[in-house]
Amino acid sequence: MSLVERALKKIQESRSQVPPAHASQASLNTVPLQAQRPAPAPQPTVTHAAPIVTAVPTPEPARPTRVIHIDREALRQSELLPPLSQERQLSGEYRQIKRPLIANALGRGVAKIPNGHRIMIASAMPGDGKTFTSINLALSFAMEKDLSVVLVDADVAKAHLSRTFGVHNELGLMDLLRDEQLDVESLILPTDVPGLSILPAGKAIDTANELLASSRMEQIANQITVRYPNRIVLFDSPPLLITQEAMALSAVVGQIVMVVRAGVTPQSAVLDAIELLGEGKSVGLVLNQTDEQVRPGYYYQYYGHKDNDRSGDTAEGDDGALRRSVADG
Ligand SMILES: Nc1ncnc2c1ncn2[C@@H]1O[C@H](COP(=O)(O)OP(=O)(O)O)[C@@H](O)[C@H]1O
Ligand SMILES: [Mg+2]
Repeated sequence: MSLVERALKKIQESRSQVPPAHASQASLNTVPLQAQRPAPAPQPTVTHAAPIVTAVPTPEPARPTRVIHIDREALRQSELLPPLSQERQLSGEYRQIKRPLIANALGRGVAKIPNGHRIMIASAMPGDGKTFTSINLALSFAMEKDLSVVLVDADVAKAHLSRTFGVHNELGLMDLLRDEQLDVESLILPTDVPGLSILPAGKAIDTANELLASSRMEQIANQITVRYPNRIVLFDSPPLLITQEAMALSAVVGQIVMVVRAGVTPQSAVLDAIELLGEGKSVGLVLNQTDEQVRPGYYYQYYGHKDNDRSGDTAEGDDGALRRSVADG
């Protein structure tokens, strides 16, 4: 049995000891699942010759003046934020999820993951909780004093995020993909939550998949991060098993958070979705909407290369394999 399967089985075993979950519960467990990567090769030292001409500073890009109001009460009403009674517990769990993502992105205590600043919130099926996770994780990232976060609505067909924040008629990702003259920064909308901004989905078109898979997408992803070393970009995405857009998107990110809806997403769907993801990505599983009786904060963690996961021959040892840890919330 592969490590992924063992992790999922453990979760199922723990779930089978408690009554079935209620659909409205907002708790979640995390299952970070990180593909092991070799440490990046040392970069060759480059000696720069003295510039012949004096560099002209590039002008700061034009910024939109509109500020999006993040209405937490309205988000709660739409069930995209947890009820007040569960807020504290859930924010502790998101803190637990974001720590390894930040460590991988910035190389804090671990080797920096290439393109680790770009994080895709993925799942096998619709309704698993990608948009919920994107919003809650983005708010958690924004609380970090030294980080900023751009929440990108990359589920362009549904544009759930854009509609939620009332920016569905604004220019966004799709328009950037179509029009090379558009400047990314000019479309990223600031919010009244310090550190949090939003890139809307833009106008949906039939060729979204081709555009997301194009070199222009890579260019846009680079442009969002290149100027800002402490900026995290979260992509709320379409379901992996139903659309091709999500696979295209996975090519430009360094980390993937795979949302699994507890007791709903079939294990085979999770495995198939992971199989679709590109090589060399860091993948973490988040178990969403778990039962209250499953002790919150438990998570299962293992490290192993994605290829080995399915072969089942990766040893489960002290240092690496399936681990059970208690989140400190
Ligand atoms: N942890 C959670 N607690 C409570 N409700 C949740 C949770 N995760 C998702 N939901 C609810 O489940 C529904 C589907 O979630 P959503 O994030 O829109 O899924 P997806 O983006 O994967 O299609 C939403 O109505 C949302 O309110
Ligand atoms: Mg969604």
